[in-house]
Amino acid sequence: MTLLTFTILYDKITENFIDFEGEFMSIIFNKERNLFKLDTLNSTYAFKIDRDGLLKHLYYGKKVPDLNLEYTAWPQGMASFMAIQGEENRSLSVSLMEYSANGMSDVRNTAIAIKGQNGSNVTDIRYKSHKIYKGKPAIEGLPATYVEDDSQADTLEVVLYDELFKAEVTLVYTAFNNYDAIARSVRVKNVGDASVDIERLYSACVDFNSSDFELLHLHGKWGKERLPVKRHLEYGLQGIHSKRGASGHVHNPFIALCADGSNEEYGDVYGFSFVYSGSFSAEVEVNCVNQSRVLMGLNPNDFGWHLEAGEQFNSPEVVMVYSDSGLGGMSRTYHKLYRNNLCRGKYKLKKRPVLVNNWEGTYFDFDDDKLFAIAEQAAELGIEMFVMDDGWFGQRDKNNNATASLGDWYVNENKLKGGLKKLVDRINGIGLKFGIWFEPEMVNPDSDLYRAHPDWCLHTEGREMSISRNQYVLDMSRKEVRDNIFDQMYKILSSANIEYVKWDFNRILTEISSTSVPTERQKEVSHRYMLGVYELMERLLKEFPDLIIEGCASGGGRFDAGMLYYAPQIWTSDDTDAMERVEIQYGTSIAYPISSISAHVSAVPNHQTGRTTSFETRGNVALAGTFGYELDLTKLTQEEKEMAKNQIKQYNDYYDLIQSGDYYRLIDPFKDKLKPTNSAAWMSVSEDKNEFLMTYVVFRGGEMVSRHIKLQGLDKDKIYVDSQTGAEYSGALLMSAGLNFSNKNWHDGESVICHFKAK
Ligand code: DGJ
Repeated sequence: MTLLTFTILYDKITENFIDFEGEFMSIIFNKERNLFKLDTLNSTYAFKIDRDGLLKHLYYGKKVPDLNLEYTAWPQGMASFMAIQGEENRSLSVSLMEYSANGMSDVRNTAIAIKGQNGSNVTDIRYKSHKIYKGKPAIEGLPATYVEDDSQADTLEVVLYDELFKAEVTLVYTAFNNYDAIARSVRVKNVGDASVDIERLYSACVDFNSSDFELLHLHGKWGKERLPVKRHLEYGLQGIHSKRGASGHVHNPFIALCADGSNEEYGDVYGFSFVYSGSFSAEVEVNCVNQSRVLMGLNPNDFGWHLEAGEQFNSPEVVMVYSDSGLGGMSRTYHKLYRNNLCRGKYKLKKRPVLVNNWEGTYFDFDDDKLFAIAEQAAELGIEMFVMDDGWFGQRDKNNNATASLGDWYVNENKLKGGLKKLVDRINGIGLKFGIWFEPEMVNPDSDLYRAHPDWCLHTEGREMSISRNQYVLDMSRKEVRDNIFDQMYKILSSANIEYVKWDFNRILTEISSTSVPTERQKEVSHRYMLGVYELMERLLKEFPDLIIEGCASGGGRFDAGMLYYAPQIWTSDDTDAMERVEIQYGTSIAYPISSISAHVSAVPNHQTGRTTSFETRGNVALAGTFGYELDLTKLTQEEKEMAKNQIKQYNDYYDLIQSGDYYRLIDPFKDKLKPTNSAAWMSVSEDKNEFLMTYVVFRGGEMVSRHIKLQGLDKDKIYVDSQTGAEYSGALLMSAGLNFSNKNWHDGESVICHFKAK
């Protein structure tokens, strides 16, 4: 076949870069080899157009200068008893495909299936054109990484075309210049006269020429979110997914392939993070010739999209990160990229206020005076914001529990006597900012909203409607529903000086259908729901640009990169026990920045586990996140109040270090559980390597054992001084011999933080 004309031709190749109007581009097209090469700081990603116009993947890994990458993908398409096709005379089932399509000779799970006018979903997409340009486009209606300046990234768009169905499929790749990250998304456009249906559309497909990997993902449940688990790749399918209409507590939309022999510090690791908050699927399939295919995107079980002539659909994006310095290197790239190029708003990099939230302090049992008493105490300790949690609205006081009034966002004046503004003014008057809780996507059957609009819930006609925490899910795909909730929230938020919203979401989506779309579009509803939620968040942020939204979903049930675009911090888990939080925060840090991990000091015995941990350790653990308190401060002892003041001072002093320093996981709590040391450790190092903070937590102590912690990320030639003792060590020594914590008999739950500065 002959290739159609390129939209842009580039021919002047200078090693890895081509000269583009005098500027370097990190993405090139080599005309002689029909090869695309994307270079980031330390990684290379390459694929080519074959003789049949199909895209074949060639290489993803450490940065290489070469263009003769075809040989790295061999054997391409050769195995017995496989269907073969095309001029290349190869089977796509055993080829490294760049973006595999359904129904041809590739019989693995494929990235795309389009159903055409003939009712078939055999999809055949061939190269049509491409363009390379500076910068990164936004994806309409969806969260996505962005650049602040076009010089930060280059983008390649490759248009593939299905001649029979008249559908254009555009693969969009953005290579970041300062991070080893490539963002990918896909656009499908119906350029014909008749309708087509997208049946499956993954945002990323990467075929590796090996199966020598462990698959790492973040598994969990309510109260135990994002605990890392690993298994070696096996022949066949393995993976994770959510069909909950939310990313969920159970599986997080993130996976990593860790090369055999890699660890926290060394070896090749490939991260895949989905910038999306709804149902998703991430899978790895190993075929009979040891090639591994990664697919990540919208869960095909809950997705389909009908395209009339001229319509187009954009997929959410997947951010791929390559690290040759182990899992730790991958995490640090995600941390920086998401902090700088995904989170937005006034508080993206600015210090977030230390807050107290009344949930575990009072639950539903409060009134304005009780809240004010907590706020008064907070002000004395140096806390900067008071957050009023669930219970302040409608007739939520009916049973003082979660049975009524979601959907009725007006102030309950039995609880807040004199109204919201009066309370906010009082709290502002003692120097604290004010934040408020909402659960905008939900409705209780016992609410005015439900009584007026029972059809506004997600439901399937003729089917039972399942209920969870006494609530139904509002159909956020419907504009009138969003308008109603927006108007109610707007009224509240503009009625007083409210600077923060905790956006909760306490049940999953079921019976997902909508009366607002025709039959052939019912499979769109799950995604339309998410688009609706994103639109509502965006609208609120437009009206209140300085608002901090804190994401929340029964704890950390929607902690994902999609949410970070709107909410720079997310409530990590309802389990506030410090020992549990060490593990939960450890797992969360694998894919998400420390600044996004909301962590609070709560009361003991802990409400979730019954465990008692010292006030000091609760503080030390919460310092590894966006810090706050979640208890009735009026019940603190004098000694605890003094400690709280000190914790807040530490947080303020070390804020930049903790939030924007390079984060190193030093002792894995899951592995160390099996040893007599039974502990965890982590550290943050400033970018200039002049300062670091290290935290050490012992789970089970009680005996003298040898405890040495080798530090990471320091300058070996610098001399670091312990801020507490004045002791001096070279960076080389701290990274080779480490710090020695063997000199005492540590007790259960004891911890320490150590701060060092370079001389
Ligand atoms: C679940 C959240 O995770 C809690 O922090 C709290 O806000 C409750 N919902 C309120 O109902």
